[in-house]
Amino acid sequence: METAAFETDLSLFKYDNLEQLPPAYRELEENQRRQRIKAALDELGEEVVILGHNYQRREIVEHADFIGDSYQLSQAAADADADYVIFGGVTFMAESADIITDDDQTVILPSMEASCPMAGMAEALQVDTAWAELTSKTDENIIPITYMNSYADLKAFCAEQGGLVCTSSNAHRAFEYAFERGDKVLFLPDKHLGENTAHRLGMEDETAEWDPWDPESDAAEAVENDIILWEGYCQVHERFRVSHIEDIREEHPDANVVVHPECRREVVEAADVVGSTSTICETVENADPDETWAIGTEIHLTNHLSRWHPEVNVLPLCGDACMDCNAMRQIDPNYMTWVLEELVEGRERNVIEVAPEEKELAQVALDRMLEI
Ligand code: 13P
Ligand code: SF4
Repeated sequence: METAAFETDLSLFKYDNLEQLPPAYRELEENQRRQRIKAALDELGEEVVILGHNYQRREIVEHADFIGDSYQLSQAAADADADYVIFGGVTFMAESADIITDDDQTVILPSMEASCPMAGMAEALQVDTAWAELTSKTDENIIPITYMNSYADLKAFCAEQGGLVCTSSNAHRAFEYAFERGDKVLFLPDKHLGENTAHRLGMEDETAEWDPWDPESDAAEAVENDIILWEGYCQVHERFRVSHIEDIREEHPDANVVVHPECRREVVEAADVVGSTSTICETVENADPDETWAIGTEIHLTNHLSRWHPEVNVLPLCGDACMDCNAMRQIDPNYMTWVLEELVEGRERNVIEVAPEEKELAQVALDRMLEI
């Protein structure tokens, strides 16, 4: 079987206007930095709102006006009145905030390098070419759904093809939306979230993984299924194994396990609870004192939960092997100090501005999600 020779023009850092941290900000001492951030925030007042994803470092979440999962942060961005939304998260989240906020609001992503590797596994240009191959193999109507963890141009592509965006907390509802309007779903980029959602809907026997770059992966065969999964994954969550759950339960017979749906199917199956980062937070929040919860997600969130709920015994599911997210980690407090102090001086740094031609359509895909 032959696969198309796809041409790609991929760039990890889509926004070439983003600037590096000036040398004077590179070695600030923690207390001094905290004071400077607070002073800048006092000066800026209601002009600024800081949104922080659950995976952000402690030194960032301590300054956040709102902490949450990616769905909650997009809602918070939609509700924000501030002139400036400072996004403690990764590029695709800041893009979504820019799409959702009014034109006179500005979104700032403090660091230039906070790009989620999974979002980079399905660039719109690749998907466009792959889509032509896939749709040429069937007369049935395929609806593309992209996980929030994707760039604005892919969200725009999905809207154009009748599809939408979802997050880990509403993927099942996005699938239902798609099956009410079409025959098949192409889910991008996270194959594990796609597979876990298919199971939740009882459609596990109707899914196929498809990798247009793998000569063994056949588009004609893939479209015989109702759910086609793009070959993307999150390296932080792929790391968890069933053996980690078995080991935890052996060491702590009373342990409960909660994992994110970006984990492998068998890990989700073996866990007690599965859900988005906000579900993970709620699970620990609602636990009885002295309960033990092992957390299968990014390590900063596990550490926050352990700090926020000292009455609960919070453990990282795979101990020292649990990873932090390389992209989320890029938002460091030195960058935060710099962008805020620059704003005090009237200078906007590291603004994320989605191209107008992508913005309108990506907004359609996001609005469809916010309505389901
Ligand atoms: P949530 O939507 O659960 O916050 O997850 C975002 C994310 O990037 C998980 O890796
Ligand atoms: Fe991307 Fe995984 Fe990091 Fe989430 S944890 S932002 S999916 S790399």
